[in-house]
Amino acid sequence: MKKDLLSCMDITRADFERILSLSAELKEGRGKPGAPKPFEGKSVGMIFAKSSTRTRVSFEVGIFELGGHPVYLDQSRTQMGRGETVPDTARVLERYLAGIVIRTFAQQDLIDLAANAHIPIINALTDDFHPCQALTDMFTMYEHAGKLEGLKLAYLGDGASNMANSLMLASQLAGVNMVIAAPEEYKPRQDLMEKNLGPGKCAWTKCVREAMADADFVYTDVWVSMGFEEESKRRMAILQPYQLNMDVLKLAKPSVKVLHCLPAHRGEEITDDVMESPNSIVFDQAENRLHVQKAIMSLLIH
Ligand code: CP
Ligand code: NVA
Repeated sequence: MKKDLLSCMDITRADFERILSLSAELKEGRGKPGAPKPFEGKSVGMIFAKSSTRTRVSFEVGIFELGGHPVYLDQSRTQMGRGETVPDTARVLERYLAGIVIRTFAQQDLIDLAANAHIPIINALTDDFHPCQALTDMFTMYEHAGKLEGLKLAYLGDGASNMANSLMLASQLAGVNMVIAAPEEYKPRQDLMEKNLGPGKCAWTKCVREAMADADFVYTDVWVSMGFEEESKRRMAILQPYQLNMDVLKLAKPSVKVLHCLPAHRGEEITDDVMESPNSIVFDQAENRLHVQKAIMSLLIH
């Protein structure tokens, strides 16, 4: 594996398979005698510049369960919040920590952190990517479908979000065919659609019906991602036709499963009845963040 996980472009198909099988192993063995504790005596930093419920808790609990000590840092309360550079911060923190998990705005900050620290840097969400979530989503799909290759994943809404970006890359690795239904204003990035990290293909359509046809899984994410609040009004109006509601759910096969990275803004990108329907597996998906991130950290941090 490469030193860092800054996006799914950092992992190969073989890495992807290892993450999936180790996630299953750690999930099965959680809390049992002999559960591995490779981080004994090690501390792992967690720098957060944006809000979080799942990511913070699942990483913090995961580090603890692996025998390590999580060090949570609110970025605004560190000296980075007062202008210390990312490279200087990297060169200091690597002296204390075995690895760093970071959630921030600019992907470039992660690139700079990784270039200036000898320890692994793990992306816990930036404006561009959320690889730990997308890898978890593939694991969750595998658990529910028993395979990944050839599945169809429909994605509705903001096709330019960090989630759409990461799901395109993870789908390619997994051999999943992803169809994004999004308006012209929030269409997916062409360069990522064409990365060809594996056999999975990505396509864009403006038509919800086309994306939903024969989909095995349907995914949506908030219409206003963190950091984009000023665009709220415009986004709500443009993305409204892409809401995942019961009428839309019925366009897929009856067995379709609903995914959402959460937090959900019920009544906006997804309706209550879809969230609560038997098709929804969003809370299994949230749980899996813990298992998959433990696998990712175990493979990267030594
Ligand atoms: N899905 C996800 O990353 O959730 P949080 O923002 O709560 O961490
Ligand atoms: N696209 C969302 C994902 C939250 C987990 C955001 O960046 O706010």
